[in-house]
Amino acid sequence: MVSILISGILGHMGKNVAELVATDPDTVCVAGVDLHAANSCNVPVYTSFSDVTEHVDVVIDFSSAANLDNLLAFAEKTGCGVVLATTGYSEAQLLQIEQASKKIPLFKTANLSVGINLLQKLVRQAAAFLGESFDVEIIERHHNLKKDAPSGTAFMLAESVNQAFDGEKQFVYGRQGLIGARDKSEIGIHAVRGGTIVGEHEVMFAGEDEILTLSHSARSKKVFAAGAVKAAKFLCGKPAGKYDMQDVLA
Ligand SMILES: NC(=O)c1ccc[n+]([C@@H]2O[C@H](COP(=O)([O-])OP(=O)(O)OC[C@H]3O[C@@H](n4cnc5c(N)ncnc54)[C@H](O)[C@@H]3O)[C@@H](O)[C@H]2O)c1
Repeated sequence: MVSILISGILGHMGKNVAELVATDPDTVCVAGVDLHAANSCNVPVYTSFSDVTEHVDVVIDFSSAANLDNLLAFAEKTGCGVVLATTGYSEAQLLQIEQASKKIPLFKTANLSVGINLLQKLVRQAAAFLGESFDVEIIERHHNLKKDAPSGTAFMLAESVNQAFDGEKQFVYGRQGLIGARDKSEIGIHAVRGGTIVGEHEVMFAGEDEILTLSHSARSKKVFAAGAVKAAKFLCGKPAGKYDMQDVLA
């Protein structure tokens, strides 16, 4: 049985994870951490990791980048694993995450869906096959409450495309004004926000007289919750290191 603490338990994703953990015979939620205390959950909800007394195997984090220091300090102190699902980290924080993974088992991905992880491979293959003669543009669409833009997944897909070009492409975010002809070195990334869109990613390869589009659409947040729980089970008992969805699916 994997003992899970949900960080951000009162948020949209936190609630989805709590529901799923409750129905999974191999997992149990022992506590939650959030900005506010609450008794609407069946487990204690703390406002600080320092108040947690329960034994935790893995923390599933869907909170905010601001929570990183406390979360990593707790994991390093207790030796538990961390499924880091939150997005929007700064460069300095990404370095901090890298350092932490030398001490604790740490799973990180900007997207927990199986489909997106396959899409990552497909766009890399397509970019390698189509080469310089096709322009690559990435369009992501999310709900109007999403805080960071472009999405972590859009970055992940752009990085995958760029691997086919030995990392030489430049990311260009949106376009405005008299920008002139498109430069061959660009990968355009565009963020659309509106309504309750769960998460859509489209990678367009535009060539002369033909367009190839590879896309993924998440229809419910449950897909991310399922990936998080799968990752937590995978991580439990693993040695320190950095893991991602490709490791889990392998
Ligand atoms: N990796 C993925 O597949 C994936 C999928 C969906 C969402 N996300 C990311 O997960 C995060 C949460 O998404 P959401 O839609 O549930 O957001 P949300 O705003 O609904 O929930 C976030 C929760 O975290 C809490 N929180 C915020 N800052 C905190 C802090 N410093 N300490 C403790 N708790 C804090 C909030 O009170 C809230 O309850 C976002 O970064 C989002 O981009 C990742």
